[in-house]
Amino acid sequence: MSNPATPTALGVLDERPPLTFPPGFLWGAATAAYQVEGAVAEGGRGPSIWDTFSHTPGRVREGHTGDVACDHYHRLGEDVALMAELGLKSYRFSVAWPRVQPGGAGPANPAGLDFYRRLVDELLAHGIEPWLTLYHWDLPQPLEDAGGWPARDTAGRFADYTALVADALGDRVRYWTTLNEPWCSAFLGYGSGAHAPGRSDGADAVRAGHHLMLGHGLAVQALRAARPEAQVGVTVNLYPVTPATDTPGDRDAARRIDALANRFFLDPLLRGAYPADLLADLRQVTDFGHVRDGDLAVIASPLDLVGVNYYSRHVVAAPVEGVAPEPYWRSPSCWPGSEDVRFVTRGVPVTDMNWEIDAPGLVETLRRVHEEYTDLPIYVTENGSAFVDEVVDGRVDDADRLAYFDAHLRAAHEAITAGVPLRGYFAWSLMDNFEWAWGYTKRFGMIYVDYESQARIPKSSARWYAEVIRRNGLAAE
Ligand code: FCB
Repeated sequence: MSNPATPTALGVLDERPPLTFPPGFLWGAATAAYQVEGAVAEGGRGPSIWDTFSHTPGRVREGHTGDVACDHYHRLGEDVALMAELGLKSYRFSVAWPRVQPGGAGPANPAGLDFYRRLVDELLAHGIEPWLTLYHWDLPQPLEDAGGWPARDTAGRFADYTALVADALGDRVRYWTTLNEPWCSAFLGYGSGAHAPGRSDGADAVRAGHHLMLGHGLAVQALRAARPEAQVGVTVNLYPVTPATDTPGDRDAARRIDALANRFFLDPLLRGAYPADLLADLRQVTDFGHVRDGDLAVIASPLDLVGVNYYSRHVVAAPVEGVAPEPYWRSPSCWPGSEDVRFVTRGVPVTDMNWEIDAPGLVETLRRVHEEYTDLPIYVTENGSAFVDEVVDGRVDDADRLAYFDAHLRAAHEAITAGVPLRGYFAWSLMDNFEWAWGYTKRFGMIYVDYESQARIPKSSARWYAEVIRRNGLAAE
């Protein structure tokens, strides 16, 4: 049928049609504060749960911490210049709550806000739209000591913090994300304990999920009050969940994991209710007594956009009696009430995270959000892959990462063609950084970071992405 494809200089397959994205499509790249900033004790910053966690032996690979990370705090000018060189239209970064409120409450720390003011001004000076995420997992440690996200009060504290940031930066930041991936904060932070603060209790994880969403709703209201013109959304990480076979058992396993991974958040945020089957699945874990009248209305406060992070698909199978499943990532389980569901690998190519590469899953995910939940504009706020990179003669030729981006951008385009109001795409990540429990052992960046010298080397994928942005699409070549 089609002509045999030949590899180009960059290793992508040619003979594919050019794809053009809608005018004004927001091409970006993303990072998060704790993953890149370093300078953890500067500018009056207080400790976060990730400082405590990473300094606890055995929690992060090789004992890595975010103490220095990419030293972005001191290299902001150089990093924004690199973004401009790539032609980024937008940069998604997060504000570290413990820089703004070192103790998690009270008045703003001016030095903390100044850093973000400088960053935002530098972006604007280069014509790059700042996209601000308020919470990318770095809860001030004093709030964790007071109970963390399982405690209701944390939601109110988050709204207070949001009001301070809105007040300081709202005149120059248009796009706001409240939470990044509340599933990870709740179920990895308080369920499996693989992420900070490293607690393992299913009921706490469920409570944390609720209070994160409540905090989101209150933060939306605080933002609206301070800045009526702000474009406000939330970012959820979504996975298509597929049964390994068509048996009723496997289909039920997929339903359960879909409920915990996706609908736990999508339904309250966009429909104002928890799904009935989720409540039933979690009956042995919690009675949801932490949900108060009016919470769901706050959680479902109207938004301007929805952010979707997409990396891979889950394929699952029914429990086998008497056989403990291989833990998904780590034990204990991050799937309360469904611990015995088996996660299956299909033998398809994987990234260095061992995540299956599944670009069609992005089309499915975007279509689902649009077709089942909302007409709001959607942005892919993260998508990317870790691969082992090698510097050869001062260059990093990351053909595998480039191919991942290429495939997923084609998927994003297909979703647009299918009617999804997709308005932008943020590559994860601008540069290699502290990959949470994996420390610096996994590289997701389009820009290589030599952690010894802090030199930045744009990889082939970065050069290619710059060309995509310049053309507003993919070339046929
Ligand atoms: C997402 C996180 C991001 C990064 C990527 C690989 O879950 O939001 O910080 O770690 O995964």
